[in-house]
Amino acid sequence: MYKILRTILFCFPPEPVHHFSMNGLRLLCSIGFKNILAKMFRPKSNHSCTAFGIQFSNKVGLAAGFDKNAKYLRELECLGFGCVEIGTVTPLPQAGNDKPRVFRLPKDKALINRMGFNNDGVKVVAERLSNWRNSRLIVGGNIGKNKVTPNEDAWKDYEICFKELYPYVDYFVVNVSSPNTPGLRELQEKESLRKILTHLQQLNVSLPVRSGGNLSKGEKPLLLKIAPDLTQEQIDDVIDLAMEIKLDGLVATNTTISRVGLTTSGSRIKAIGAGGLSGLPVKQRSTEVIRYIHQKTNGQIPIIASGGIFTGADAKEKLEAGASLVQVWTGFIYEGPGIVKNICKTLNSQ
Ligand SMILES: Cc1cc2nc3c(=O)[nH]c(=O)nc-3n(C[C@H](O)[C@H](O)[C@H](O)COP(=O)(O)O)c2cc1C
Repeated sequence: MYKILRTILFCFPPEPVHHFSMNGLRLLCSIGFKNILAKMFRPKSNHSCTAFGIQFSNKVGLAAGFDKNAKYLRELECLGFGCVEIGTVTPLPQAGNDKPRVFRLPKDKALINRMGFNNDGVKVVAERLSNWRNSRLIVGGNIGKNKVTPNEDAWKDYEICFKELYPYVDYFVVNVSSPNTPGLRELQEKESLRKILTHLQQLNVSLPVRSGGNLSKGEKPLLLKIAPDLTQEQIDDVIDLAMEIKLDGLVATNTTISRVGLTTSGSRIKAIGAGGLSGLPVKQRSTEVIRYIHQKTNGQIPIIASGGIFTGADAKEKLEAGASLVQVWTGFIYEGPGIVKNICKTLNSQ
């Protein structure tokens, strides 16, 4: 059924289709189809699990960049996601790069994007989240820096986002691995990371949280999202730092700048130009990074897997490599709204 719909949707450019589909879903939810959709798409049996101290209704989350502005949480919850990572959010609103900036590579089951952190800005997103009340869906806050902020001041942008979102998200992901903000990935260098992450950890123990109507001190798990293009030495640095400062986890991985091994023609790839490649082509590298981190740390750092997950078998592969949870993005586009239920079904039958 979704294959037919996908064929029609793929006749139109990706970004308008994204907004059209999500607004269509929202309309359906608001005219009384919410429970029907939930019945169709939410996993049936109990799949709950715990990672970095948080209980998730299942292991399948939606990766950052899909619901950048936290606009569709109700709709995404209906589709069964155990977690939605909103963002990347920056302190100031940003328009992102010129359109078109998302491209489908159907022959490779992939996407290339150079969105450039387009988002409504952290104040608007925090305000939206403050009106969202839901006990089941876990919401992660993926935070970044504005394009105009120089790298030496990046830590201030992360601080602003962290403080604003703090009351409303369940965990944080520091994103320094997007290829679409010039210079951002240089922040993956050990000392830059140390500055940003230790600063956030200090804030983390001092900010108040609301529990049962009262304000008390509490900590939100802090994770770091890394690129699949890091060298082994850079991954070792990330591991050392993560262990040293007791980071709560890693998200592995973001999109890749590599274009190796694609079936799509070279001329088409050249015409598309710069951007992060996601989906099937990033799957293997992403799994390798997860396995390496898991083995090197003896499983001491929880990992959220992201990169090329389409099916239950793909998710199983990531979990066996050492991930605690998985996230989908490109897979959701290619597999459709049944993806969470399908993955959970396979995982439960193992
Ligand atoms: C159009 C698009 C926009 C994205 N935006 C973000 C983002 O804002 N922040 C982020 O951390 N990752 C972003 N990502 C990366 C995804 O979260 C994910 O890590 C990556 O696509 C690999 O997973 P996949 O192969 O399942 O797509 C984006 C991906 C796509 C395709």
